[in-house]
Amino acid sequence: MAILDIVKYPEPVLMEPTSAVEEFDDELRELAADMVATMHAAPGIGLAAPQVGRSERLCVLDLSVGDDEAELMVLVNPRVVEEHGNVKDEEGCLSFPDLMIIVPRPERVVVEAQDLDGNPIRIEGEELLARCLHHEIDHLDGVLFIDRVSPLKRDLARRKIRRRIQAQDW
Ligand code: NI
Repeated sequence: MAILDIVKYPEPVLMEPTSAVEEFDDELRELAADMVATMHAAPGIGLAAPQVGRSERLCVLDLSVGDDEAELMVLVNPRVVEEHGNVKDEEGCLSFPDLMIIVPRPERVVVEAQDLDGNPIRIEGEELLARCLHHEIDHLDGVLFIDRVSPLKRDLARRKIRRRIQAQDW
């Protein structure tokens, strides 16, 4: 198990859609285990493959950040099949260190995915879990949280990021 480097915005890999996983092999298992270790070390509650420079459709989530194994999810080829309601709340992203923005997301989502053996799984999430599932699955489509806010807010965020990159504080 290894802790991987987290890719930061504006690396192009973050903006590219991922490819479906077709081989449910040891390599996939190893990548998933490394992503879980990387998420826990960060620490974070979700991590998608592009954030470690990979373009597989794979993400990991753990709202307990390692405290409760029952909360750990490894989702292969996930997609949102239902979304209900809309709530605005503050969120962050490991590829945007220390940047918190208010993002609208569904209040409840239903996600279909596969586990590491290729078996179908279905997850219903509300509130923070819905937000996290939606955020991570967005990553797999090359969509970032700054893409979910108004153009004005996006510009402000980009300006802030540019200043921090120039100040080598990113
Ligand atoms: Ni993120």
